Amino acid sequence: MNLISAVVLSVLVNLGSGAQNLTFPPWFLFGVSSAAFQVEGGWNASDKGESIWDRLLHTHPDVIVDGTNGDVACDSYHLWRRDIEMCEELGVNVYRFSISWPRLLPSGFPNYISEDGKNYYNNLIDGLLEKGIQPLVTMYHWDLPQSLQDLGGWANPLIVDWFADYARVLYTLFSDRVKYWLTLNEPMVICDAGYGLMGAPFLDDTNIGLYLCNKHVLMVHAKAYRIYDEEFRHLHHGMVSLSNVALWFEPETPADTEATKLMMQFYEGRYAHAIYSKLGGWPPELEKLLTENGKREGYPYPRLPPFTPEEIEYVKGTYDFYALNHYTSKQVRKVDPDKAGSWPYYGSKEIGADMVNGPAWERALSATWFAIYPEGIYKQLLWMKNNYGVNNIMITENGLPSFEPTLYDLKRANHIRNILEQVHRAMTEGVHVLGYTVWSMMDNFEWTSGHKLKYGLYAVNFTDVHRTRTARESARFYASVTRTRTIPL
Ligand code: NOJ
Repeated sequence: MNLISAVVLSVLVNLGSGAQNLTFPPWFLFGVSSAAFQVEGGWNASDKGESIWDRLLHTHPDVIVDGTNGDVACDSYHLWRRDIEMCEELGVNVYRFSISWPRLLPSGFPNYISEDGKNYYNNLIDGLLEKGIQPLVTMYHWDLPQSLQDLGGWANPLIVDWFADYARVLYTLFSDRVKYWLTLNEPMVICDAGYGLMGAPFLDDTNIGLYLCNKHVLMVHAKAYRIYDEEFRHLHHGMVSLSNVALWFEPETPADTEATKLMMQFYEGRYAHAIYSKLGGWPPELEKLLTENGKREGYPYPRLPPFTPEEIEYVKGTYDFYALNHYTSKQVRKVDPDKAGSWPYYGSKEIGADMVNGPAWERALSATWFAIYPEGIYKQLLWMKNNYGVNNIMITENGLPSFEPTLYDLKRANHIRNILEQVHRAMTEGVHVLGYTVWSMMDNFEWTSGHKLKYGLYAVNFTDVHRTRTARESARFYASVTRTRTIPL
């Protein structure tokens, strides 16, 4: 890392404000994130099985804006040493990455464990630990084995057992060294995108499949958590959670308050209420609303499958911390459901509300969806604590997208700084935040946005066979933060 440039940058970022820096405690974990499908490539290397994203992109390349796919991605399957080196350059305490289920269990089942898959993750984990960097492992970041999709995927209740077997393999192989586990990444995207023609398996099934998926992701998470709790915790003393989408919503006017509460339930509550609330199960108002909407649209049955009292108890409390992925905020404006916008804003039609940007919020992109509103994360953190009474929170994703490949990404550096300021503010007001990981360590395969949308602290040259990674200014800035544990005021 070039220290001079880091110092100059610290000065440039928020030039001319105060004198004193904000300091983070020694235990606070600074990190960066990635996900297997987005970086690994090696889609059919060795005995790896096919995933639902491989299948989708090989059969429907047209769903990706630039027609790219994940066959090679950042080639981390071969370049994992360089990835570890980048973590070192960034000075992070944790690296969040995911394990590809079909790379480790090519059939989807533990009847066969890939030696190469196992070696790949062992090398990565050991290499990180040698450098003093903790692995933070996501078990599932959207790349279901196609074999399991062929058996019904997330709509089949047997997925609870399939995942349990997979989780047990992961804990058995790696939990002597991995202390931070996330069962699922953004279950909202697994279900709402997967069954709403937005991501693999790219199904159009928004009355049945989507809501069966809603229940199964919660049962899957709970079972994987309980397996750790009962069989591994006493040996390895780690922590388990799941990463939820945490889009912050606030009412545009007081008249929009009810719609805003429902929107929070649609986004957060559907995947959090069962785990974190005292009551457990579905958020009651949302359950009612979704069923009424279904009836109006000609589906006369409850949409969210009911939980039995035993299931409610089984899912409730299955967390060691709350993990959230926060990117942006929206104001909610109540409208006639028939006139509400839909994608990119899931929930608009269901709730009967549009999502708009606050009048003073800057936009990250020409598209209107990404507003820059750092205070949103502060409000979100307080809401988590007050709403669920959870006071152990980790920010497992946050970052700034750009269509620009430029290395001089001061805007991203500035955004990270401003977000961290708001995290610090929440901490001084009593929210216990364990850590923060930037999405993403490097540009990668950004799902349906292909390589067009970039989030990386490092730029990746996708036209070069070596997938050369080059630090952006934001990487230098973040390295100065992780090294000094302070952000400039
Ligand atoms: C959330 C997802 O977990 C990640 O895979 C994605 O790339 C980022 N958001 C940015 O869209």
